[in-house]
Amino acid sequence: MSALQISIEEDKSLPAAKSFKVAKVYEQVGERVKVSGWIHRLRSNKKVVFVVLRDGTGFLQCVLTGDLALAQQTVDLTLESTVTLYGTITKLPEGKNAAGGVELVVDYYQVLGLAPSGDDAFTNKIAEDSDPSLLLDQRHLALRGEAISGVMKVRAALLRAFRRFFEEESLTEVTPPCMVQTQVEGGSTLFKLDYYGEEAYLTQSSQLYLETCLPALGDVYCVQESFRAEKSHTRRHLSEYTHVESELAFITFDDLLQHLERLISQSVKYVLEDPVAGPIIKQLNPDFVAPTGPFMRLEYKDAITWLNEHGIKNEDGKDFKFGDDIAEAAERKMTDTIGVPILLIKFPVEIKSFYMKRCADDPRVTESVDVLMPTVGEITGGSMRITQIDELMAGFKREGIDPKAYYWFIDQRKYGTCEHGGYGLGTERILAWLCNRFTVRDCSLYPRFSGRCKP
Ligand code: 4AD
Repeated sequence: MSALQISIEEDKSLPAAKSFKVAKVYEQVGERVKVSGWIHRLRSNKKVVFVVLRDGTGFLQCVLTGDLALAQQTVDLTLESTVTLYGTITKLPEGKNAAGGVELVVDYYQVLGLAPSGDDAFTNKIAEDSDPSLLLDQRHLALRGEAISGVMKVRAALLRAFRRFFEEESLTEVTPPCMVQTQVEGGSTLFKLDYYGEEAYLTQSSQLYLETCLPALGDVYCVQESFRAEKSHTRRHLSEYTHVESELAFITFDDLLQHLERLISQSVKYVLEDPVAGPIIKQLNPDFVAPTGPFMRLEYKDAITWLNEHGIKNEDGKDFKFGDDIAEAAERKMTDTIGVPILLIKFPVEIKSFYMKRCADDPRVTESVDVLMPTVGEITGGSMRITQIDELMAGFKREGIDPKAYYWFIDQRKYGTCEHGGYGLGTERILAWLCNRFTVRDCSLYPRFSGRCKP
């Protein structure tokens, strides 16, 4: 019989097949099952066709033999076609490797959506050697690849881990607004929008709103998109990123640093223990070593000395002096050389934001912290906040900010002020560090940066 004449029909005398997601089907050895998904890999040696099926929960090796392998419908199969496969789960003999240690011996299948072949075939759309910007144009297809989808699974586990940690530390989750009329981290990176005729911005940070929650809800956190109109293209800057921010009341600077150490060590531990994310990190970043506290603490002034002693120059090609910003390249060189997580603390007032509290023993510097990780540099920025109105007003003045729009934030210092502090974590930066990605763009579902707002 020719391939064209072979029709694929279900043998009704077989036991009824029960539906499973791939991740759950591995345990169904000996059972007849029904699994739907996309054809991730396809290999044929005429008499036998091997399919790796993907459904987002896992991968399943499937084998088609006999008439099923020869039928025209099978010959026409393409990568990324959707199919429902029926068959029996069989344990693979020792030495043969496939996800879950099993294989689906297919006895019947249906094609739900045949993907194109030829010029329009999936592999031509996202060829591995494609220009990165072409791959970003095809992000909706590139997402299906093992590395990017793996990072997205780790991302989900990381957000779960943060929430678990915050629950353990009794923080309440809130959802502050994205459309605001105040800046937090400098006017130069504000995205402006016309809000019914008034000027408004996309939020740069939810910090000020979190501060207003302290008297109402106690310690709080949020997982919210932040927006920065970053002009330069760097491997760690996005225009939109997922910002995990917390605010804690009645704490000292040292409490804040210890909280950060616990947050990072515990969350990473939870992610590595996750049955899905743990193995993905092992695969993407085999040398990853989980950090354990306490982290190295390095004062800004000592970092300046360290940079000069190691011949690392500032952006003007000169030696660093007190008050210089430590830009990305120098910061990363220092972090990579030291090779362990660093809490870089006590930055000068002039290079930090208007709201940061000064150190009691040295008013030139603030109770501020950046958490630096090898390979990516800064993943977190935080500080203690000014508690007194006069000092806060001086901060606005120094930064040239009109305090009028901040009346609600200033009220926090009026109606029961308290020592408090907080921080923001860049989710994509932590992921780049965990999953060993060269750029944060690989760690965002649909990355946004200057020149890219699609798909
Ligand atoms: O250091 P930043 O600007 O601090 C704040 O926004 C504070 N208001 C947070 C707070 O105290 N609640 O940003 C915090 C973190 C950085 O350490 C970095 O990880 C990330 O946000 N980040 C970015 N990530 C991707 N793209 C960008 N353009 C980023 N800008 C900051």
